Amino acid sequence: MAFSPRVFSGIQPSGDLHLGNYLGAIRRFVPLQDTHETIYCVVDMHAITVWQEPNALRRATREVAAAFIAAGVDPKRSIVFNQSQVMQHAELAWVFNCVARIGWMNRMTQFKDKAGKNSENVSLGLLAYPSLMAADILLYKATAVPVGDDQKQHLELTRDIAAKFNNDYAASIVEQGLDPDFFPITEPLIAGPATRIMSLRDGTKKMSKSDPSDQSRISLLDDADAISKKIKKATTDPAELPVEVEGLKGRPEADNLVGIYAALSDKTKTEVLAEFGGHGWGKFKPALADLAVAQLAPMAGEMRRLIEDTTTIDAILRDGGERAAALAEKTMHDVRRIVGFIR
Ligand code: TYM
Repeated sequence: MAFSPRVFSGIQPSGDLHLGNYLGAIRRFVPLQDTHETIYCVVDMHAITVWQEPNALRRATREVAAAFIAAGVDPKRSIVFNQSQVMQHAELAWVFNCVARIGWMNRMTQFKDKAGKNSENVSLGLLAYPSLMAADILLYKATAVPVGDDQKQHLELTRDIAAKFNNDYAASIVEQGLDPDFFPITEPLIAGPATRIMSLRDGTKKMSKSDPSDQSRISLLDDADAISKKIKKATTDPAELPVEVEGLKGRPEADNLVGIYAALSDKTKTEVLAEFGGHGWGKFKPALADLAVAQLAPMAGEMRRLIEDTTTIDAILRDGGERAAALAEKTMHDVRRIVGFIR
């Protein structure tokens, strides 16, 4: 059976959204609406794998939904919802907890990074996190998942879980008269010049919400002045910009800023260097600051307006939740029969 081209992606409401989230994911959600059925989820159940103050979680959930919409995700064409509204995510995640192996989870670099030396003392949810992520995607039999580079390993695990489920339950799937490839083998969509946006202070560190320095990232709620200042103060080496992409090798800060310019202007790094190669930062940084302000400041304004309009945001999430639940229940109905649960 051919699976219809369906896109699923999720963002955690666990604090400040930043330029990496926008360029690596949210911005790329928009054009996919023209070619795919698109489902975009605020993954609040993933967020509580580390402590979230409940009121802050509610606010952050609305902030992510507002970012989707301000960026151009249309809640009528796409399904926009928060994960906890659709209980089938938790239900399928449990089945996957019993399919996946602890060794697979222990190998996840994001778990190792987040748990650090404290791995006995983090939540059990943090270890099982990728199993819930696989459930998010496979509940909708999504075939394509747009994400940043840091999610690659989680998507490989999603493929492993799908394959092991299809294999472990092969006889039962056939017995129930269902397609032997019950879960699709999902394709990650990790492409373009901005799959890994780096810190503005240190080009070897990923831009992240957990960096203690606010100067390291551009928040999607920053105003024009803050955006411009952060770009102009970004760490760089003293050399001028190279004429070819090859020349960015070994220059992480330059590579990062050129990548940001390319992503914001829908160009390739080669095209950006054709314009700025041979020039110094005195020319490039103000051009990048203008471009970033022109694109991001209006979006920040729209996000701020939407976040305050909780009635509208909550209605969008509720409507999306109902549409998502209808799709999710179709899959879960089959999964229960496959596994041998009586209803
Ligand atoms: P999260 O919430 O950490 O990040 C959301 C998205 O932003 C991307 N991203 C970046 N891209 C480029 N450069 C960066 N510096 C950068 N930082 C973050 C992430 O790759 C991601 O695409 N586990 C996921 C959420 C999730 C999910 C899913 C994603 C849960 N279920 C199902 C896809 C499908 C996460 O923590 O993303």
